[in-house]
Amino acid sequence: MTTESAINTPEHNHKLYIETVGCQMNVLDSELVVGALRQDGYELTNDMFDADTVLFNTCSVREHAEHKIYSQLGRMKFSKRKRPNQVIGVIGCMAQKDQKLIFRRAPHVDMVVGTGQLAEIPRMVQEARANRERAMAVSLGRKAGSRDTVSRSFESYDPLREPEMRPSPFQAYVRIMIGCDKFCTYCVVPSTRGPEQSRAPSHILSETKVLADQGVKEIILLGQTVNSYKHTEEDKLHRLSDLLYMLHDVEGIERIKFVTSYPKDMGNDLLEAMRDLRKVAHYIHVPIQSGCDDVLKKMKRGYTVEQYREMMGRIREILPDCAVSSDFIVGHPGETEESFEKSMDVIREFRFKNSFIFKYSPRPGTKAYDLYEDEIPDKIKKRRNNEMLALQNEISEEDNTNFIGKEVEVLVEGPSKNEEKKSDNQSTAESADPNGPIQLMGRTRCDRIVVFDGNPRLTGSLTNIGVYDCTPTTLMGTIVTRAYQHGTDGMLPILQ
Ligand code: 5AD
Ligand code: SF4
Repeated sequence: MTTESAINTPEHNHKLYIETVGCQMNVLDSELVVGALRQDGYELTNDMFDADTVLFNTCSVREHAEHKIYSQLGRMKFSKRKRPNQVIGVIGCMAQKDQKLIFRRAPHVDMVVGTGQLAEIPRMVQEARANRERAMAVSLGRKAGSRDTVSRSFESYDPLREPEMRPSPFQAYVRIMIGCDKFCTYCVVPSTRGPEQSRAPSHILSETKVLADQGVKEIILLGQTVNSYKHTEEDKLHRLSDLLYMLHDVEGIERIKFVTSYPKDMGNDLLEAMRDLRKVAHYIHVPIQSGCDDVLKKMKRGYTVEQYREMMGRIREILPDCAVSSDFIVGHPGETEESFEKSMDVIREFRFKNSFIFKYSPRPGTKAYDLYEDEIPDKIKKRRNNEMLALQNEISEEDNTNFIGKEVEVLVEGPSKNEEKKSDNQSTAESADPNGPIQLMGRTRCDRIVVFDGNPRLTGSLTNIGVYDCTPTTLMGTIVTRAYQHGTDGMLPILQ
């Protein structure tokens, strides 16, 4: 074959490598992109050098995530020389944020596709291979037109579903909204994901029914500020609480979660729906970000610690057993030692189930980047990060200890991480009996991780576990079986 015809013929091995960094929204986007490309005959591969189509689904929330992608792109440079037919695409948040800059920094990239243009990918991959021309599809900037015009340039992308890319065959993400309008000063999301737009309840319901038919037991509703969900359909305003009632009726779905919540939009209607609907998890991820009012003001979070405390009071009153988790940013501009100590105090006061702790990372294009100096040295950010993590772990372990000796119901997700590592290291010859007991992992209704030995066939079922030990992140237990015993009138729980 001449070089000429190799260029003109879109012949290739139909192998797709996709690497995803960032949040659950990105994991879902990758699932959907893979689903669309499978329709064009693509198969997934784990070897990026063997694939003829390589996609990086990117995150811009912190600089570190972007560095990782640029170094991966660096590794691809030589592979592209050997495989000129290869198509390399950068998709997602960094694509929307950096746009042409990506071509300048990594000239071997063929396509750049923003979060609101993912539906274009199959066509663009084909064209990139046939024409060998660079292509870019991005949405409008937040100030490039009216709110409606900018919103329309960000399409919610929710086509066919791709089971193989899910966290497990029994769990699936369902996007209920895109974008964000909160404009916290440190955050790039409002520009990388565009204006807040809620999807129609009828679309969400029919997608959930399809997932239930495919065997999904747990759905995780996704939105940047998921409890701000609002959509008017047939003259009725639907809030997240209304949506939960609708989805609760879907047969086959056993558990419903939603992430991430915004403190100011936590209405009692939502908390009451969580209380009254058996399938809804008693778990809320509602980041406070800082325990200091001056820092919260600089972050433009829109609430004070006292207002967050009032929200926590309502959660504790309506849902006494609900687990709450948080995010914190340490080393945000203006965070003094005193402010940091206030963040430590709110961890002690609110006893979060867990906290995701991040060192402040200045992001070009955000208000904080323009207005404040990143004045806190990395050494101090690191120290605060470690101290906060140690405190959170101490609290998580203390609270997990309360479960020892109790019975919890878990939805079994599959092999534990330890088990997966074990089977990765094991050769086929010595592999264990596929139906023998292995270490499984599941989650309680309050999102606590539980590990226990059991048959892999339990995956996807609700199982009772007796807890005998814990770490800050995990409860350890054994399956509880119930058996009739002569001479008793009831069932006795027998801990195995
Ligand atoms: N630097 C550090 N952490 C950040 N987050 C968002 N933007 C930044 C930033 N510039 C954190 C917040 C948010 C989580 C997803 O990421 O805590 O809740
Ligand atoms: Fe970013 Fe704030 Fe929106 Fe969360 S609420 S995505 S932190 S702007």
